Amino acid sequence: MKVLKLKRGDYYEITLSSEKPENKDFQPFVNHFFSCHSIEPEELVFDLDISRRKRVRIYLRSHTFLNRLKKDFLSRRQKGICFRVRFLRKKDWLDKWQEDYHALSVGSLFRIIPIWEKKKVLCRTRIPIYLDPGSAFGSGEHETTQLMIEEMEGLRGRFKSLLDLGVGTGILSIAAAKLGACDIWGIDHDGASVNVAKRNLLLNHVKQGFFKSAEIKTFSAGRSFHLVAANLFTTTLIENHMRIIQWVKPGGYLICSGIAVDHKNEFRERFPTKKIQFLRERRKGKWCLFCYRRR
Ligand SMILES: C[S@@+](CC[C@H](N)C(=O)[O-])C[C@H]1O[C@@H](n2cnc3c(N)ncnc32)[C@H](O)[C@@H]1O
Repeated sequence: MKVLKLKRGDYYEITLSSEKPENKDFQPFVNHFFSCHSIEPEELVFDLDISRRKRVRIYLRSHTFLNRLKKDFLSRRQKGICFRVRFLRKKDWLDKWQEDYHALSVGSLFRIIPIWEKKKVLCRTRIPIYLDPGSAFGSGEHETTQLMIEEMEGLRGRFKSLLDLGVGTGILSIAAAKLGACDIWGIDHDGASVNVAKRNLLLNHVKQGFFKSAEIKTFSAGRSFHLVAANLFTTTLIENHMRIIQWVKPGGYLICSGIAVDHKNEFRERFPTKKIQFLRERRKGKWCLFCYRRR
């Protein structure tokens, strides 16, 4: 395969699809295949295409890794499953994605409106959140974000300050501000996401506190918050639990999302609750959220 020169934001899209709609071997095969290459289930995009074939996608930047996956797939000679590779230039997938992204309601209060639909969509009964997601996570379409927003709605009036861990598009910070928070901090280890989030906060007239590119493992806040919102990989939550919990004020709240149902028990076993009290769990599709209160 020809090695292409990847610019920032370019990706290889790898699709595994089952030729028959009801292929019971598909999901176990996919889970096993990707776990052999240390790819977490959270990184996979599962969907059904129009002809109801099962399909799963992953996006990579490394050509060497792509070749390793392809070689391994071919050596398994799995019948009825296809392996396809597509090269996506950043501009192509952003344009394509914009065509398919429209205003949507989230929780019982919010309407997420892509900035290019601002003039078209009238929003009288819901609180608008205007977004230009760019390449950042947090368009409002994903269940893990929706769970976070629903939980934050339930906590309305009980938090003035927020630490948004992994801001993505900044959607949670904006929702928190609309729910009454006035002291909003956020970090993301992806600098491009921080820039997208900053722009979105401005679009929604949200005043930002400390909003920088930082890695949770090394970030030092030097203070605590009424609410800490963490929509992250299960492993990131577990590995950084001490740091995350210390950023919650006594009596404040911690909400953790991004936990796949299959990882729920592992999360509950490995996320220590000595300093926090478990309040509730929410579920949407194959994702879970856990809400805690700091003792
Ligand atoms: C699942 S997205 C959540 C985005 C948004 N908060 C939402 O709920 O839709 C996770 C975000 O956390 C960031 N992230 C993941 N691991 C991180 C880490 N160790 N330190 C800082 N940011 C991290 C990612 O870059 C990504 O933008």
